[in-house]
Amino acid sequence: MERIMCGIVGFTGEGQAAPILLDGLSKLEYRGYDSAGIAVKRDDSDRVEVVKVKGRLEELSKKTNGGHAVKGNCGIGHTRWATHGEPSELNAHPHVTEDGAVVGVHNGIIENYVELREKLQKNGYSFYSQTDTEILIKLVDYYYKKYKVGPIDALAKTMVRVRGSYALAVMFRDYPGEIYVARKDSPMIIGTNPEGTYVASDVPAILRYTRNVYYIGNLEMARLTREGATFYDLNGDEVTKKLVEIKWDAEAAEKGGYEHFMMKEIHEQPKAVRDTIGSVLNAEGNVDLTAVGLSDEDIRDISQIYIVACGSAYHVGIAAQYVIEDLARIPVRVELGSEFRYRKPLLDPKGLVVVISQSGETADSLAALREAKEKGVKTLAIVNVVGSSIAREADSVFYTLAGPEIAVATTKGYSTQLVACYLLAMQFGLVRGALEESYYHELVAEIQTLPEKIDRIIEDKERIQWFASKYAHARDVFFVGRGIDYAICLEGSLKVKEVSYVHSEAYAAGELKHGTISLIEDGTLVIGVLTQSDLYEKTVSNLVEVKSRGAYLMGLTTYGHYEIEDTVDFNVYVPRTDEHFASSLAVIPLQLLGYYIAVARGLDVDKPRNLAKSVTVE
Ligand code: AGP
Repeated sequence: MERIMCGIVGFTGEGQAAPILLDGLSKLEYRGYDSAGIAVKRDDSDRVEVVKVKGRLEELSKKTNGGHAVKGNCGIGHTRWATHGEPSELNAHPHVTEDGAVVGVHNGIIENYVELREKLQKNGYSFYSQTDTEILIKLVDYYYKKYKVGPIDALAKTMVRVRGSYALAVMFRDYPGEIYVARKDSPMIIGTNPEGTYVASDVPAILRYTRNVYYIGNLEMARLTREGATFYDLNGDEVTKKLVEIKWDAEAAEKGGYEHFMMKEIHEQPKAVRDTIGSVLNAEGNVDLTAVGLSDEDIRDISQIYIVACGSAYHVGIAAQYVIEDLARIPVRVELGSEFRYRKPLLDPKGLVVVISQSGETADSLAALREAKEKGVKTLAIVNVVGSSIAREADSVFYTLAGPEIAVATTKGYSTQLVACYLLAMQFGLVRGALEESYYHELVAEIQTLPEKIDRIIEDKERIQWFASKYAHARDVFFVGRGIDYAICLEGSLKVKEVSYVHSEAYAAGELKHGTISLIEDGTLVIGVLTQSDLYEKTVSNLVEVKSRGAYLMGLTTYGHYEIEDTVDFNVYVPRTDEHFASSLAVIPLQLLGYYIAVARGLDVDKPRNLAKSVTVE
């Protein structure tokens, strides 16, 4: 399945296409990629020239002499961020049919690629790559040839048959000078100027050529010629589109119009969570860990789970401990990578070491993985970057589909790691008979409501912004909670610390009276997290204790607990969900709090001082 954050570009018009494609792809580099390619319809023949590289765009530019070695005024290009199917020249796009009749690039996820591949194999197709994109391109070719229809009808039939998301750009040998596009869920825009017509996944790729763009809708297609673009709906009927002028400058365009990557990535969480869940749900709507590499037998054999990670990924582990122990009844121990690697850990040979890492390159986590392997213990990685060291060295990998995360402070990386842990807990519980099948199905249904609930919380962000501006100059902030709420406090506290430099501490609420409560003074901000109903009253009493010592209280709980307003000074509500999943919702206001305090303090939110996105050294 292709990464949701690949980049596509296309041009047809006056002048050479290749240099425009390379330039457009270079403007999408910030999105992260591991291979690239272009396809150009030559003027002097009906041949399409395809050039692809594993690695950076410079390689592609070298291979094509800056694009000047590939002649033609109609072409498409792609930067690939791999998910399944290692980064390689063979897996790089564009993908092309054996006879060269159809060539295309794609950004998105084809969920039913296995059944489509089988269908095509039965109809004589073979495959050279491990990508679902090659399957998609050959499916277009299949309909184009079988029904002897035009490109738009072939695309329409393909769209009806495919499950997933895509921004697809295709060239047909029989239609020189034309590019056909289709879109569902993945971003795509079409630009136009007197020189020609452009297609791209994102504004930065074409901003240099035009600010006049069309936003193609979901399940719509378009035919691009040097004169312009014609749009069609799924029935093949023409639809009219309004030309929109882009007001952003190049830098804002990379951030999708947000001021910082962190805010853009906070907003990307619903889609990242939805795609991560979708990546392991099968056609029956059950969790299927085959692609992860864990069989039911492996799952039944697990005696103990050790979760090892750093920073926010460690906080995911703390939350996951409660969820996995409760749903799968397997003992879970959570360790910091930097501690685990030197502790000479006593590991049960039938245990499972789970290493959680967004970058897949964190030195302490990688060392912990190697330590576990040396001791002959099975390892599972939950990673966002394909081909990263931790992904390559673990016995099995659960890829989060968050897309490249640019901001140093993780948000969508954290959220997708959380849902990955929920899905493992549910499947482990079902396979081991620890989880009632009926409750399992309820959880499968409920976990799919998280993206929309996250969206709703983000919509209310101005309220957090107002509160953050009041506390931008706080000296100390304390986060208190119990159970899963404590895990949420850990992440909330780190978000505030790392981007706003305000000192904060996360405390198990019941632990306050053992020392820390002496730090509470008049006006000290204490944030109570109360999503766990069986612990709610106890945490409220802890809040009352600190309030009597002068604390200013913010309460973060679920809708319905309106009585909290009798205790706290400022309340934030999040939608109800199964309490095992509460971290996914309660963390959102805390991400926003950290972000807005940092903005109020005029700090470099995306690149906080002293921090790196991936700590690849000890
Ligand atoms: C999170 O906001 C921090 N940037 C940091 O704690 C991070 O989670 C930690 O360094 C682990 O990184 P990884 O997930 O890439 O291994």
